[in-house]
Amino acid sequence: MYINFFLFFIISCNDNIKKNNSVLDESSNEPWPFKIYEFDSDGNIINSEIDILDFQPSRDCQACHPNHVEEWKLSSHYRSTNSQMFKIAFENAKESHFDEGDRFCVQCHSPKLFVTGLYESELEEGSLASEIANENIGCDFCHTQTRLNFNSLIVNDYSLIDAEYYNNPGEGIKYGSTVDPDTNNSFHKSVYNSIYKDSRTCLPCHNMIIRDAPVHMTMAEWASDPFNDMADNRSCQSCHMSYNGEYHSHMFSGIDIDLTQPLDHEDNQKRIASITSLLDSAAISYFNNSEDSIKSYAHSNDTLQIPFSIQNKTAHNIPTGTSELREAWIELVVYNKNNEPICEFGTIESNKDFLKYNNHNIIFTSWLKNGQDTVYSSIEAYDIINNSLKINETFEWNYSCYIPEHIQDSIIVKSRMRIRPVKPQLFYSDPAFNEYFHLLDNIPIFDIEQSKIEKTIFIH
Ligand code: HEC
Ligand code: HEC
Ligand code: HEC
Ligand code: HEC
Ligand code: HEC
Repeated sequence: MYINFFLFFIISCNDNIKKNNSVLDESSNEPWPFKIYEFDSDGNIINSEIDILDFQPSRDCQACHPNHVEEWKLSSHYRSTNSQMFKIAFENAKESHFDEGDRFCVQCHSPKLFVTGLYESELEEGSLASEIANENIGCDFCHTQTRLNFNSLIVNDYSLIDAEYYNNPGEGIKYGSTVDPDTNNSFHKSVYNSIYKDSRTCLPCHNMIIRDAPVHMTMAEWASDPFNDMADNRSCQSCHMSYNGEYHSHMFSGIDIDLTQPLDHEDNQKRIASITSLLDSAAISYFNNSEDSIKSYAHSNDTLQIPFSIQNKTAHNIPTGTSELREAWIELVVYNKNNEPICEFGTIESNKDFLKYNNHNIIFTSWLKNGQDTVYSSIEAYDIINNSLKINETFEWNYSCYIPEHIQDSIIVKSRMRIRPVKPQLFYSDPAFNEYFHLLDNIPIFDIEQSKIEKTIFIH
């Protein structure tokens, strides 16, 4: 009580100054050391005990942990300020919010710059400092963390900066989840820390509320299921860092690939294989709903009713995170016996075609709003319309398809859930993306294997 009051006093004296130890309960006497930094409401560091060179580059890990390095280099964590999508949006944010735009994005996308207070422009090109910073969410940023941050990023117009990290870099210690690590290697000390098995190690980056708008809420979605939250049974790591018998995957697959490379580029192929297997059982669908199930017989010159439901089997919404950029949808086609379509829903001819947003199609996505306008960057958002398939939700629908007179014998109904990381309309709607139409060619579409169903129906 006394300590809390004391902290409150300090915080209120220094109006806009925040410290990464301001929310810790000091009385708990946790043994874990960490380095302190203080920042103002624009995210400028006032002082920091951390030097950028305290973090090591991944090439220092290469010799002994080659698989970890190779996989992580394919991840969005490694590319988090170098992805073309980020660069475009970042330039835009810096222009429209010149005071804090820069610091707002780096607090998650380039946390080493954030905790050391550096700006990218201050780093000499080709220097070690620049190499380390450019590895973004790299080995040493995660493996020098000692304590959990229990807080999501919650920001408003007065302060867009809120991230808190507890790192102890520069001491030659790597923390991890190996219960009894071999501490004798010549390069670093290894220390077991239980936070590496805890989902909250992925905070504060994977949960963000801006001006009361819950824009990217992966962690909260996940935690809304008590089975996840209380027991941590389905940790983020269990799916995104699965164990292969020797080590934990470090590819951190979601659904993004490198849009500047063609789909058949070797690195994209590796990512696509990993994404496809992540998605395999993410959703299941049925030709029935709580009212009805599909009939085995139908009549020509009549309308066929197709009751349908899709169930989210993963541990957060589909899509989640930057769901305003993403689209998941149901494709359903009714074919005649020559395999020609009679009715189509959610079909597109090429990867870069727009989906039809109308009352006949099921599409899961979200829209960030700035008043009446749809915006595509979190920093512009005042509200969100979230139309994703919620965690544990079973979404029900009725399709109808008119079967023409000449159809005989039988028809077949096929359906699947599809997902793509980027909605093509982003490139047309947001002026910042107008020059980048060539990236559209490389947008992948993934099918969720266990959502594929089909049914033959006989025609009377
Ligand atoms: C986003 C955070 C994050 C990043 C980035 C990261 N790791 Fe890890 N790493 C973890 C977590 C979490 C675990 C424990 C996973 C578990 O036990 O479920 C882990 C486990 C490990 C282990 C223990 C062996 C194993 O696989 O379980 C090693 C070694 C390791 N990481 C090395 C690296 C190296 C080298 C890099 C950079 C190429 C790296 N990590 C990047 C979070 C990260
Ligand atoms: C000279 C070889 C060598 C180098 C270089 C090396 N490591 Fe390790 N590392 C090891 C060994 C050996 C272990 C212990 C493995 C075990 O006990 O299973 C280990 C364990 C780890 C662990 C697990 C710690 C734990 O308690 O769970 C992490 C994390 C880790 N290393 C990260 C790194 C990072 C990051 C780098 C680069 C900055 C790096 N290592 C460089 C040899 C090395
Ligand atoms: C049961 C397995 C599972 C667990 C547990 C899980 N995820 Fe996912 N995650 C998936 C699947 C499947 C996808 C791709 C489909 C989708 O969009 O939800 C995905 C996608 C993502 C994406 C990319 C955005 C997107 O919509 O594709 C992020 C980011 C992510 N997960 C983070 C997390 C975090 C953080 C946690 C822990 C709070 C977590 N996940 C827990 C399976 C899981
Ligand atoms: C320091 C902030 C930070 C932490 C901590 C962090 N992430 Fe991320 N993560 C990001 C950012 C930023 C991106 C998006 C990078 C980009 O694409 O530009 C991302 C992307 C991802 C994606 C990939 C989304 C896709 O579609 O490619 C997954 C999956 C993911 N993170 C899982 C995790 C898990 C699991 C943990 C905890 C073990 C974790 N992250 C910890 C910041 C973080
Ligand atoms: C709360 C931490 C956080 C902040 C602040 C943040 N991001 Fe992200 N961003 C993420 C995470 C986590 C993902 C990955 C989520 C997913 O895949 O669904 C992501 C994904 C993205 C993506 C899509 C992935 C890609 O690179 O293709 C873009 C673009 C992006 N962020 C741009 C920005 C910009 C620009 C800013 C500043 C205006 C910003 N972000 C601020 C955490 C953050």
